[in-house]
Amino acid sequence: MASLLRFSRGFLRSPSLSQYIVGNHQRRWSVIVAGSTEHTMGVRKRIYEMREKALLGGGQKRIDKQHKKGKLTARERIQLLCDADSFVEYDMFLEHNCTDFGMEKEKYPGDSVVTGRGYINGRLVFVFSQDFTVFGGSLSGAHAKKICKIMDQAIVVGAPVIGLNDSGGARIQEGVDSLAGYADIFQRNVECSGVIPQLSIIMGPCAGGAVYSPALTDFTFMVKETSYLFITGPDVVKSVTNEDVTQEELGGAKTHTTVSGVAHRAFENDVDALLMVRELFSFLPLHSHDSAPIRQCDDPWDRLVPGLNTVVPLESTAAYDMHGVITGIVDEEDFFEIMPNYAKNILIGFARLNGRTVGIVGNQPSVAAGCLDINSSIKGARFVRFCDAFNIPIITFVDVPGFLPGTNQEYGGIIRHGAKLLFAFAEATVPKITVITRKAYGGAYDVMSSKHLKGDINYAWPTAEVAVMGAKGAVNIIFRGHASTEEQESAYIQTFANPFPAAVRGFVDDIIEPSTTRMRLCKDLDILSSKNEVRPWKKHANMPL
Ligand code: HXC
Repeated sequence: MASLLRFSRGFLRSPSLSQYIVGNHQRRWSVIVAGSTEHTMGVRKRIYEMREKALLGGGQKRIDKQHKKGKLTARERIQLLCDADSFVEYDMFLEHNCTDFGMEKEKYPGDSVVTGRGYINGRLVFVFSQDFTVFGGSLSGAHAKKICKIMDQAIVVGAPVIGLNDSGGARIQEGVDSLAGYADIFQRNVECSGVIPQLSIIMGPCAGGAVYSPALTDFTFMVKETSYLFITGPDVVKSVTNEDVTQEELGGAKTHTTVSGVAHRAFENDVDALLMVRELFSFLPLHSHDSAPIRQCDDPWDRLVPGLNTVVPLESTAAYDMHGVITGIVDEEDFFEIMPNYAKNILIGFARLNGRTVGIVGNQPSVAAGCLDINSSIKGARFVRFCDAFNIPIITFVDVPGFLPGTNQEYGGIIRHGAKLLFAFAEATVPKITVITRKAYGGAYDVMSSKHLKGDINYAWPTAEVAVMGAKGAVNIIFRGHASTEEQESAYIQTFANPFPAAVRGFVDDIIEPSTTRMRLCKDLDILSSKNEVRPWKKHANMPL
């Protein structure tokens, strides 16, 4: 990561990619001119000029302004996102058709968005990149039409869509045409949901109703300090609620990745964000009928991980970091964490086991003892649903003392939100493997991909405690009115705080040595790769939203 950041900073100081893009175009043109007849030269010259104008977006001055803010242009971003020379642009000549406010005299070929298709590590992707140098990247009817065209093609051919957002919102001169354009995109976002992965990177402003397109996509990433997302800006907030808040506080990357949970990750700058999205892309199938990608793996599938035998502390209330368990087990310690700074009591992200993409869900004992609360339930549920929609097996690591008690949680609707996670696991038909590392208490035991929610393979480590609650609480209730003794507590621990009550009932399939977990999971995934579970037909479920 450190080297990536060094590279990113270096890149932003290096000569602009724009020069490379225009230079490339000029080289291609000289080849065309050499093969032309006089008859076609006029048309070709016009094509050349229009393309050259399109490549310069809103002009060099505005490009320089964009660079000054530490931002790349729409085309530079695409160059970095896609494999070299793989991007094929659509609708480079399409212009807006607004005639109000003198707009008929102000036209830019391609208008304020660059759209097309390309490849990321040789895999097809459709991309739109809003061009802030043209009318502030604002969304005209033409702009929306271009985005809709690539979304329509992406869904029929089965390839993800990545949107690079940098826009002042609705094109103010166009009014209702712009609003219609947004709704056309929203409708497609919904139709694409669960069919092709949709990723959004917010790389500048994204305000007003415009925020709902990224919100409808599967993952939203932000660039620190140069991007923001809000329904209404600081001035409107001040006039309506009298609150003083800066743009950054209201809708910056930190706010959305730590407080609101609207965005899934924040990156240092444009280059960093684009390279990390390429990385994420490598984990994802292209569409809902595609299987999770399998990558050549040099990490032995049967590698033992001796450190796991001692990772769980002897003291049952002591914390440990579930990251260590996850990175110890997965290929090459490579865990692409999603929402690392939000609801940290649950961990979610992508990894590989013997080269195969898996979705990881894990309670985090080092934050709030790993309990489930409103935010962690929602975070986990949405991730599980993504994995299920795109055939990504789910590996769940369980160390959960239960749901967080309190009026905050009850008034906030923990019943409804906790049900989301339960629903998501129960609904998922992808291979589900669960490892109980320590506590699996109460309702949270049921929720965390238990056998009862059709977990395919459920393991317990010797340190597992599957019980209704912790020993102290249990003894206090059983012996209510009488002072509970240490003997009673230790009797409860002997009886329930171990993996046997679950194992003798078949609620876990085996009690395994922690060091063998990687080997077991890799083998199980092979067996489960042909899993085909069919549920009764329904239009759609009615999950507790
Ligand atoms: C047309 C716009 C524009 C817009 C910016 N520009 N926003 N043109 N429609 N919405 C133009 C500017 O006129 C300027 O043109 C260029 O883009 C760059 O803008 P600047 O203001 O110079 O840039 P900056 O200082 O960085 O400020 C960026 C900004 C600001 C914060 C986004 O431009 C701004 O507040 N714009 C208006 C935002 C807004 O109210 N949008 C409507 C939201 S409501 P020149 O020619 O000088 O380069 C909405 C509803 C959607 O979006 C509903 C969907 C359901």
